[in-house]
Amino acid sequence: MKTALVTGASSGIGAAIARRLDSLGFNLILTARRTDRLEALASELENEATVIAADLSQKSECFRLYEEVKDRNVSVVINNAGFGLLGDFDDTDLDRELSMIDVNCAAVHILTKLFLKDLIAKDRGYILNVGSSAGLMPGGPLMATYYATKAYVVSLTQSIDEELRARGSRVRVAVLCPGPVQTEFNDVADCDFAVQGISAEYCAEEALKGLFSGKTVIVPDRGMKLATAAVRVAPRRATLRTARRLQSKKLSGRKG
Ligand SMILES: NC(=O)c1ccc[n+]([C@@H]2O[C@H](COP(=O)([O-])OP(=O)(O)OC[C@H]3O[C@@H](n4cnc5c(N)ncnc54)[C@H](OP(=O)(O)O)[C@@H]3O)[C@@H](O)[C@H]2O)c1
Repeated sequence: MKTALVTGASSGIGAAIARRLDSLGFNLILTARRTDRLEALASELENEATVIAADLSQKSECFRLYEEVKDRNVSVVINNAGFGLLGDFDDTDLDRELSMIDVNCAAVHILTKLFLKDLIAKDRGYILNVGSSAGLMPGGPLMATYYATKAYVVSLTQSIDEELRARGSRVRVAVLCPGPVQTEFNDVADCDFAVQGISAEYCAEEALKGLFSGKTVIVPDRGMKLATAAVRVAPRRATLRTARRLQSKKLSGRKG
């Protein structure tokens, strides 16, 4: 039986990917901090599901999670847990940003390294790192730290994937780069999106289709595909100004 690990499975994109993997016949290992949510999800799945509570902002928790599941023959790892924060860089809370760097970058880095070695030894398996279309932009004024963390995820994943392809490995590593998705992300980031997002279910479906067909960078929505293509040729300053204008609209949806 195939087994997949999904981090951040207690809501949004992670929960939707877990449901989709379940429908594809995978046993699931679900992790996040809110175990009540994970238990509820586990109870609705067809296949076997194990719940493991972990705060991935803690390096020791990333290692503990790996130790708990390393003998479970995990063939798919979805590094999805993450969050954002809105505001001018000189205003936003430093501890929250450092925690964001730990969850969005360090945890992805640690879990990718640990699981990749096992997958390489078996010469099979997949790792999907959930980045963002933010990671394909030159920056994101008013969400500076979040955009920087996602640029890290995109860069790291593309480099590892090229290393694997160069040596003829059958292991695939990919990065998911959605634009806005309707999840709890906005509440956590204390903002409101200026544009309507795609559903978490559609995002999950496109993510797994891309992953299992060997894509490296997966942009699930057509509008965002065009936007990220345009950004590649647009002057960086102009893109940053546009990004700032778009982000500033989110400030209007703040909880105050
Ligand atoms: N929604 C969007 O518009 C969008 C767009 C592009 C990329 N993304 C990315 O998609 C991923 C999932 O976000 P989402 O939109 O689905 O938001 P969400 O509904 O808020 O889900 C975030 C998940 O991350 C988990 N998480 C957060 N901090 C954690 C920590 N310290 N330890 C363990 N788990 C933690 C949360 O679980 P607990 O709180 O239970 O721990 C939750 O399951 C993130 O990486 C996000 O950056 C989202």
